[in-house]
Amino acid sequence: MPQPRVFVTRNIGQKALEVIGAETDLEVWPQEEPPPPQELKQRSANVQGLVTTILDRVDRNLLETCPQLKVVSQMAVGVDNIDVAALTSRGIPLGYTPGVLSRATADLAFALLLAAARRVAETDRWVRQGEWKLAFHPMWWLGADVGGAMMGIVGLGQIGLEMAKRARGFDMRVLYTARFPKTEAERQYGLEHADMTTLLRESDFVSLHVPLTPETRGLIGAKELAAMKPTAILVNTARGPVVDSKALYQALKQGSIAAAGLDVTDPEPIPADDPLLSLDNVVITPHIGSSSTGSREAMGMLAARNLIAGLNGQPLVHCFNPEVYEGPQ
Ligand code: NAP
Ligand code: GLV
Repeated sequence: MPQPRVFVTRNIGQKALEVIGAETDLEVWPQEEPPPPQELKQRSANVQGLVTTILDRVDRNLLETCPQLKVVSQMAVGVDNIDVAALTSRGIPLGYTPGVLSRATADLAFALLLAAARRVAETDRWVRQGEWKLAFHPMWWLGADVGGAMMGIVGLGQIGLEMAKRARGFDMRVLYTARFPKTEAERQYGLEHADMTTLLRESDFVSLHVPLTPETRGLIGAKELAAMKPTAILVNTARGPVVDSKALYQALKQGSIAAAGLDVTDPEPIPADDPLLSLDNVVITPHIGSSSTGSREAMGMLAARNLIAGLNGQPLVHCFNPEVYEGPQ
């Protein structure tokens, strides 16, 4: 029997590719950049399996040209690049990679929090520019206190919970929002549910962990930033468009919040002339939340397992649209 044909849109790691290659007729897009839409269309046209990353747009237009497609496996937890309803209406399961990247992403979020609070990137630049001429000054480079401060977590899912655990390790009080209260996490880790207004007003650090959806696009705009403390620090490792970046620039420039740590921007990559880059009170990393060695390997392997399960007509390990397995209503 011929092996199922699969297109993988980027190098997702040697081990994962070996697992996929052992059971399929595999084509891997060879370039560092993702395939342009026309290439993606052409190479997906005759495949049964597609492995994507967050830069591949999977929409109705693409799906119309993939009549044999049985499964899409995304190597990410966020699936905002994918028209999930279109996949579901075709009965195609969507694999994704929750959990295995939560610790790595929370580590990075906490690193950004500490870097913004204690001015790590700013002072590193100052040292490299040869400005460190006086060995020590008791009143220079004062930053925000982290231990004992109030943390506000917007979206207490898998990554938000890991962030909360890190915050508790730093003796912080933790407020959180989510669509539904998390009573078990509240009890186990001493967290407090709050409405958004209270969270923004009370928190010294606000860390975003919601997916990008129509409801969360622009969730943090001028009004929300104005509601935060002037000493507060915003951390975004979720998705760039969750924050209105023009409003963020204004808030940081005018001092209506103190600083920000961003792993995601709108757009990505951030253009070289983006006004945010002119500010010293922002630290920015290039969407590297999940990029620890172990996390990326686990994501690749999970994407491979989801793909192969889907090709074999079995339930995926992690399926984003499990309703495809429900019979007709
Ligand atoms: P998750 O476990 O699904 O958690 C998402 C949380 O957001 C849930 O607690 C959910 O609440 C909450 N939420 C959803 N919509 C909301 C809304 N409208 N208002 C308030 N809360 C809302 O997902 P995760 O694994 O933690 O990942 C979260 C996001 O992080 C991903 O979708 C992705 O965009 C981003 N991410 C970024 C990186 C990076 O490299 N920077 C890496 C991984 C993930 P309920 O639980 O009550 O439904
Ligand atoms: C990364 O951004 C992810 O959603 O996994």
